[in-house]
Amino acid sequence: MFFELTEEQMAVQQAARDFAQNILKPGVIERDREMKYPKKEVRQMAEMGFLGMMVSPEYGGGGMDTISYVLAMEEISKIDASCSVIMSVNNSLVCWGLEAFGTEAQKQKYLTKLATGEWVGAFCLSEPEAGSDATSQRTTAEDMGDYYLLNGTKNWITNGGTSKVHLVMAQTHPEKEHRGINCLIVETDWEGVAIGTKEDKLGIRASDTNSIMYTDVKVPKKNRIGDDGFGFKFAMSTLNGGRIGIAAQALGIAAGAYELSLAYSKERKAFGKPISEHQAIAFKLADMATEIEAARLLVYRAAWLKDQQMDYSTASAMAKLFASEVAMRHTVEAVQIHGGYGYVKEYHVERLMRDAKITQIYEGTSEVQRIVISRSILQGQLYVPIWADKVAV
Ligand code: CAA
Repeated sequence: MFFELTEEQMAVQQAARDFAQNILKPGVIERDREMKYPKKEVRQMAEMGFLGMMVSPEYGGGGMDTISYVLAMEEISKIDASCSVIMSVNNSLVCWGLEAFGTEAQKQKYLTKLATGEWVGAFCLSEPEAGSDATSQRTTAEDMGDYYLLNGTKNWITNGGTSKVHLVMAQTHPEKEHRGINCLIVETDWEGVAIGTKEDKLGIRASDTNSIMYTDVKVPKKNRIGDDGFGFKFAMSTLNGGRIGIAAQALGIAAGAYELSLAYSKERKAFGKPISEHQAIAFKLADMATEIEAARLLVYRAAWLKDQQMDYSTASAMAKLFASEVAMRHTVEAVQIHGGYGYVKEYHVERLMRDAKITQIYEGTSEVQRIVISRSILQGQLYVPIWADKVAV
């Protein structure tokens, strides 16, 4: 078992670290306060190749492995989780889904623009009454012969207002339940697509999150991904990888809070010595470092399994569950270590604490991850298939 990163992976990590420190950090507090979409920064991320990292170069992507992607996600999330969620949705949910399951024509038309970051995409599964219970899609895609008529509302859509392309899950055959759902590629400037106002959120405030209303939108049949009724399977398969991205985001948020806390605790003095020399603080740092390292191993393992084309659905759920819980727990501790300074924006840790919360919610709540993991354990699928069989996904 080897734990070393390759030179290429370390170069990606360093590039992402420099980008986050030099480009993202200066404006991050203002963007959070003003809920200002990082338009310029997203363009720069596109130029750096961060928006289509794993896509084949044939379609304009970076052709990198999932390990490189999580390394970049981690570094960017240490500084700006609003930027990293934009990046994660575009890479994992939109580009990966299109490359894995789209037709050649769909890839040529959409993936080439999404992988280069010329366009940003959104993944539209959640609805006002279908969050965790994702099979209960109320949005309909009525089969009209050579097109679908799309009607319904999607909620909490990352990149909702700034994307050019939506991947929309919608019900075509209600009698078939989740097997009647389709995924349709919808261009946001088509007639009948209306974008709701940007949500005023607790965290990741700079990223745009919107409701989307579809009213009699005509979607050509050629814009359906996969066979008729493949939409739910598409969403679940895509989320298996998406959860690795969010796990890496949570890891980065936790690690960012830890690095700030370590540095602060060596400088800040109380009772005649740096607070890091008080056991009360030193033990907090020890717990943070240990749990963050454990989260890192789970995240890297899930990414590695994906790169090996082995089953990673349970591993990604475990990584997201653990990393997001660690992020929440230790960003709260980071504020505590910083004391009064931790409670004001200038010191960054209160933002990281607010940003951490969403990692326990989106792309499947912690409770949904426990459903996925417990089903896998109870079916006896956990250790044997992950390590022994090569299961193509
Ligand atoms: N991978 C592949 N297929 C899967 C799967 C997985 N992880 N999980 C389920 N499936 C398949 C099942 O095999 C089954 O297929 P068949 O019927 O053909 O055999 C089908 O999906 C239905 O599965 P279940 O019977 O298990 O469905 P369920 O209703 O009991 O539970 C669930 C499924 C795991 C709770 C699922 O609904 C779920 O993951 N919910 C959470 C949804 C979610 O993550 N939403 C995030 C929104 S996107 C987002 O947040 C993006 C953003 O903007 C940041």
